[in-house]
Amino acid sequence: MKAAVFYEYNAPLKIEEIDLDKPKRGEVLVKVAASGVCHSDLSVMNGTLPFPSPPAVLGHEGAGIVEEVGSDVTAVKPGDHVILSWRPSCGKCGYCVTGRPQLCQTIGMALLQGYLPDGSSRLHKGGTEIKHFTGVSSFAEYAVVPEAGIVKIRRDVPLEAAALVGCGVMTGVGAVINTAKVEPGSSVAVIGCGGVGLNAVQGAVLAGADKIIAIDLNPRKLELAKQFGATHFVNPKEGDPVTQVLGLTDGLGVDYAFEVIGRADTAVQAYNSIRPGGTAVVVGVAKPDDMMMIPALSLLQEKTLKGSIYGSARPSVDMPRLLELYMNKKLKLDELVSRRIKLEEINAAFEWMEKGEVARSVIMY
Ligand code: APR
Ligand code: ZN
Ligand code: ZN
Repeated sequence: MKAAVFYEYNAPLKIEEIDLDKPKRGEVLVKVAASGVCHSDLSVMNGTLPFPSPPAVLGHEGAGIVEEVGSDVTAVKPGDHVILSWRPSCGKCGYCVTGRPQLCQTIGMALLQGYLPDGSSRLHKGGTEIKHFTGVSSFAEYAVVPEAGIVKIRRDVPLEAAALVGCGVMTGVGAVINTAKVEPGSSVAVIGCGGVGLNAVQGAVLAGADKIIAIDLNPRKLELAKQFGATHFVNPKEGDPVTQVLGLTDGLGVDYAFEVIGRADTAVQAYNSIRPGGTAVVVGVAKPDDMMMIPALSLLQEKTLKGSIYGSARPSVDMPRLLELYMNKKLKLDELVSRRIKLEEINAAFEWMEKGEVARSVIMY
């Protein structure tokens, strides 16, 4: 099959033919229909996000159609439409049974090493092993994934829209609805309005937030944020963003702030933008050695600083719900797609992302 293979850090992915083995026990072969190009893929390629070692097939925002199932698979059958979740969970551990599968430490450990749950890879080129990425690897025509990473969805949803739910939409909307549990009438700031941040903006709309302040260095992203429901706009190029947020909120700050870039300095901005009793949620993925400093005394104001992974998703419940909202025109997914591309154009998509030209590029297979 054709795949975009990550061989070297800070170098383009190589488009080539590679081999994919059949699904083993508890695994599913999916014909990938669409894959979004997310910033976290780029973060692996430039070494920001730790990954054992290339070669690997990246891509973690995908959807497609089940082609074949391995033994003991009960969740899906050939022909089913599915979203590929990059955070499969075991369903049995303490985190899973208390409704926090995003923190499950069981299956995810093998996946972090670039393997499927049994500790081996189905991807290779001749005798050379190629690693998986988060058990998804959607930058390829087909993917073998763990059954636990499969979310069955209704068949009438366009698969390009479904793919976006697999990472950016779930992460952004989920951070607002699941992690922060934003209440109607509250004020929200979103720092970074890219593919994920725009979804935090529309999550705030869904939650009934009143004031939704979009913050981005790129005026084009602020325009998009307006389309997604932001009510106020801050460009840090026009002055300190925290001062601007305080100016928009009677000098107090917002109830909730979301950092959706992946930097310590903007995470501190999120924290400094919240009012006493407020909550700052860090969604962006920063470098492991990127430290943040906040005044310890400020915690006396009962401020909360918390992280969010995958929008605290319970994939099998939340993803079909998000698609339901989309089908009922309450969630924007088509508007996130700036460009539909072929797999061969993937390296250009990373350049567009870095230049801030796109919300999302989506590979259509
Ligand atoms: N202040 C404000 N906005 C900024 C700043 C800054 N200092 N630096 C970058 N931005 C904006 C960019 O202009 C862009 O619109 O942040 C946005 C980032 O968007 P994308 O590159 O599209 O990234 P996205 O895919 O949304 O991911 C954001 O979430 O899931 C994580 O790993 C992902 O850390 C990444 C983050
Ligand atoms: Zn992602
Ligand atoms: Zn678990």
